Amino acid sequence: MSTELIGESWDKLAGQQEAMVLTFYERLFEQHPNYKSLFPESMSRQMEKIVKTLAFVARVNAPEIVHARLLKLGYKHRKFNLKREDFLNFKRVFLEVLGEYSSEHCPEVWNEACLQAWQNAFDDQIIPYLAQGLEQRMTHSEKMRIINMQTGAGNQLLAMPVWHEMLSEEEVWQAITGTLLRSPQTFN
Ligand code: HEM
Repeated sequence: MSTELIGESWDKLAGQQEAMVLTFYERLFEQHPNYKSLFPESMSRQMEKIVKTLAFVARVNAPEIVHARLLKLGYKHRKFNLKREDFLNFKRVFLEVLGEYSSEHCPEVWNEACLQAWQNAFDDQIIPYLAQGLEQRMTHSEKMRIINMQTGAGNQLLAMPVWHEMLSEEEVWQAITGTLLRSPQTFN
């Protein structure tokens, strides 16, 4: 995954990311009205989580960390009964809106290579690992493996200066561990 291109284009949208994610959800619900009832009335928390997740995927140049996070995120989506098609719809609308915002606000970094890098991130990383997490029935040892991986990854991440510019230490741990460490019983 070309994290440089993705990270650079995402950073360039600083100040526009929330508005972009809002437009994304409006467009998603316009084109797929059946999705709306899955989401809560107020989308502000959801938008914040999406922005942070994308910043995470865009910035962490360590596949095992990103994969663990995506597996767990996919697992959280299992109750919505999603199919591959739904993830492809998400990707299509997301890239459309990202392209519109980037062309307007940071045309200097938005080009064919950058779009391709985002497409590859969805096709090769985000969707396959979310889908795998969606289908996963984790055994105890798998849960432990992810926890261990995340703990090691957390220490590595905290050593990276970029995180201190973007997130507090607590937020880094929240991003990495999510609810897994706090409530492993949800992973039955
Ligand atoms: C393909 C990429 C996708 C990404 C990166 C993504 C990301 C996320 C994230 C970060 C959360 C917050 C999880 C948390 O609470 O910690 C979330 C929740 C959620 N996602 Fe997705 N998602 C994707 C696809 C989808 C699709 C296709 C649907 C359904 C149409 C969907 C429906 C939901 C719903 C309903 C929630 C819970 C909202 C709430 O109750 O707050 N997601 N997603």
